[in-house]
Amino acid sequence: MASPSAPLHPDVESVLVTEPAIRQRVEALGRDLKRLYGNEEITVIAIMNGAILFTADLLRQVDNAVRLDCIRTTSYGSATESHGTPKMVHGLTLDVAGRHVLIVDDILDTGKTLSLISSMIRGLNPASMRVCVLLDKKGRRQVPFEADLVGFEIPDKFVVGYGLDYAERYRNLPYIGVLKPQL
Ligand code: IMP
Ligand code: MG
Repeated sequence: MASPSAPLHPDVESVLVTEPAIRQRVEALGRDLKRLYGNEEITVIAIMNGAILFTADLLRQVDNAVRLDCIRTTSYGSATESHGTPKMVHGLTLDVAGRHVLIVDDILDTGKTLSLISSMIRGLNPASMRVCVLLDKKGRRQVPFEADLVGFEIPDKFVVGYGLDYAERYRNLPYIGVLKPQL
């Protein structure tokens, strides 16, 4: 595991959220989930690919019964700006009717992806539905949307690491960082 003083990736200009800060916050989110769900089973829907690392760590913080499904949307391609309306590429395989559903994503940006997914899930009549995101860029919203649980509010900067990518790279960085401008 990289220590906080491990050298930065050469493409990264600065670290916005350190590895220990992520770990502490994910532990706290796990306690929040325990308070919210008690001993209920949770049906977790992770939005691929970005939410995979966060979801894996978050789920290990709760001892509830958990069912896990993943869905995929498109919105970015390799650019840093959202283009158009996100589309579902890979749909649900688990039933969610009557279940306590927790949607997990890496980042809430324009809000388009999560508003699409949450209205789709709501239409399937879950017993409850909540949304948990690691990062929230509040200033970038184009459609109104608030998550129930937020790891960190961050400024309007394009970030990578801990699941987040630029052109599919940097997802495995253990921290959240800002890329150098020329990249
Ligand atoms: P939204 O639909 O605009 O809210 O975008 C959500 C998706 O855009 C996220 O799940 C990410 O995959 C991607 N995204 C938004 N901002 C960033 C960023 O700063 N870095 C990497 N991916 C981002
Ligand atoms: Mg994503």
